[in-house]
Amino acid sequence: MDQVTNEIVSYYEHRYEEATRLQRRPQSRLERIRTLELLRELLPPAPARVLDVGGGPGAYARELITDGHHVRLIDIVPSHVEQARAGVPPIDAVVGDARELPEPDAAHDATLLLGPLYHLHERADRVRAIREAIRVTRPGGPIVVAAIGRFAGPIDFVATARFDDRTVAEARRLVTDGVNDTSIGFTQAYFHRVSELRDECREAGLAGVVIHGVEGPAWPAAEAAQSGPDAERIFDAALELARVYSAEPDVAGVSAHLLAIGTRAA
Ligand SMILES: C[S@@+](CC[C@H](N)C(=O)[O-])C[C@H]1O[C@@H](n2cnc3c(N)ncnc32)[C@H](O)[C@@H]1O
Repeated sequence: MDQVTNEIVSYYEHRYEEATRLQRRPQSRLERIRTLELLRELLPPAPARVLDVGGGPGAYARELITDGHHVRLIDIVPSHVEQARAGVPPIDAVVGDARELPEPDAAHDATLLLGPLYHLHERADRVRAIREAIRVTRPGGPIVVAAIGRFAGPIDFVATARFDDRTVAEARRLVTDGVNDTSIGFTQAYFHRVSELRDECREAGLAGVVIHGVEGPAWPAAEAAQSGPDAERIFDAALELARVYSAEPDVAGVSAHLLAIGTRAA
């Protein structure tokens, strides 16, 4: 395993609790609700065979199993795979790398790639991971690819009152460089511009790509308001805006996460 991948595995094994991430803060609650809404709109009727690549401990996989789908989860972090297998309902999960999926061609009706892309620094690796997702999906099947928006970090730092000279410098650096500075936070990661995500999906051969902004343009307002008296009202309003502007290209890049949705050409 290369050094960057080692760092990512060690981060999730020892320094970060992924299992509860989607419940912790307004941004991640918006992410969970909107991602599930979009998945339920685009997945074939249950029971479909769904491959969840980078599925972590299985937050989305479990919801989809409950919906009646057959889900197989692949993740590079062994403890995530153990948690996926051990939870309720248990998930068919194996350790594997998104760049070289241990799956036959066209074996799944739909494939999710919700995580690996933003942990790959090299464009060639990202395109390779999307190509792998396409390879294992049946012709005509949907493929969903998640990225982290290039400017999510600085926007989050403002929303949560953590903005200082260092974060101004980081905000400036991100205009020209999408690689995360791990000394500020998170782990080895790459943050996408909307146009980059679209280009990488196209280069990999994904057909009919539409890019969604997951949390919508008002997620920073929901973060800033979270301890105040209007927290719930602002959260609900941010969720409505996320639905209205989901596929609106002019605001997609403000979301913390982007979802590229396309299909394997028939
Ligand atoms: C932030 S978590 C997202 C988990 C879940 N899919 C979600 O959207 O909530 C990113 C996941 O991608 C996994 N991952 C990172 N690089 C990967 C790779 N090259 N192949 C497979 N999984 C990878 C990590 O182990 C982690 O579980």
